[in-house]
Amino acid sequence: MITGTGRAVPAYAMPNADFAAIGIDTSDEWIRERTGIRQRYIARDGETCVSLAADASRQAMARAGVAPEDIDLIVFGTCSPDKLLPASGVELQAQIGAVNASAFDLNAACTSFVYGVSVAEGFIAAESARTVLVIGAEKLSGIINWKDRNTCVLFGDGAGAAIMQRAQGGKGVVSRFMRSDGHLASLLYRPKGGSAEPVTPEILAEGSHLVAMAGRETFKHAVRSMNEALDRALADAGLTGDDIDLLIPHQANLRIIEATAKHGHMPMDKVFVNVDRYGNTSAGSVPIALDEAMQSGRIQPGMKVMLVAFGAGFTWASAIHQF
Ligand SMILES: CC(C)(COP(=O)(O)OP(=O)(O)OC[C@H]1O[C@@H](n2cnc3c(N)ncnc32)[C@H](O)[C@@H]1OP(=O)(O)O)[C@@H](O)C(=O)NCCC(=O)NCCS
Repeated sequence: MITGTGRAVPAYAMPNADFAAIGIDTSDEWIRERTGIRQRYIARDGETCVSLAADASRQAMARAGVAPEDIDLIVFGTCSPDKLLPASGVELQAQIGAVNASAFDLNAACTSFVYGVSVAEGFIAAESARTVLVIGAEKLSGIINWKDRNTCVLFGDGAGAAIMQRAQGGKGVVSRFMRSDGHLASLLYRPKGGSAEPVTPEILAEGSHLVAMAGRETFKHAVRSMNEALDRALADAGLTGDDIDLLIPHQANLRIIEATAKHGHMPMDKVFVNVDRYGNTSAGSVPIALDEAMQSGRIQPGMKVMLVAFGAGFTWASAIHQF
């Protein structure tokens, strides 16, 4: 079960109006109407994926009453790690002093945190870990193409963290679902710059090492996969949308969130939305929203909360948590 959460974003909030200053042909109206986004946070001055994750982790540990040395396992969800080697999880381990932990990165893109919740739950159920730190953190500003208006307006930086421990008194994850489909990989990806085609001056010049996306196709599959993830976790738990007190969906686009809520017959007042303030923070999205919901009192003991996400890969997943 989740016993503490935290979140961190960079200091600089970039409003839609600021894209004009960097030569992007877009408008506040276009971005708000198509996505619901008003601003996003962008890292500067030494703020990194790992530093944001460390700030979020310290909050989560304090709220769970857990010391760094109590952590057995760190599952670090990200697709924009500080370095490709070593894993950001071990860099985080050093920064927070989790000297007794093992750590690894998990890359399911925007679904990473929800995958991470299932992974943590599995380790705890198998008694291989007692206290797990699950992170979703990104510095997407370092991997997006700032010349591509199709993508650069959508994303932001930020991190969320959760401490997970053994379920008690019927609390904890009551159902979960994970899927992926690699046939859809080229809809949202970084075409080059990995070990198959290492970076060259040509790759750098054309920007093919940066995020590229087929927006409309991604939208279509996003709605379909979010719906499936929602249905499968509900069915597995023997619940309907009526039984869910709060839905926390991946914050990519307000229209996708609304379509998911409609499919689940959930009124929007039972759906957590913060895409307007953060944009799409990929792996950071669900845990940032979860922490905002916890700290603002939207999650109370006894509530059933559903996490649902989709991302590049494609990947999609859900989890229902009894608080
Ligand atoms: C990206 C997205 C907002 C675009 O909205 P859309 O309604 O599908 O718009 P289209 O892609 O059809 O583009 C319509 C027009 O707007 C233009 N456009 C694209 N980005 C623009 C921007 N930032 N500002 C102004 N115009 C823009 C396009 O060039 C296109 O112009 P054209 O018709 O002259 O070619 C939408 O497809 C989307 O949200 N997709 C899912 C993205 C996502 O969730 N990704 C993350 C997955 S984890």
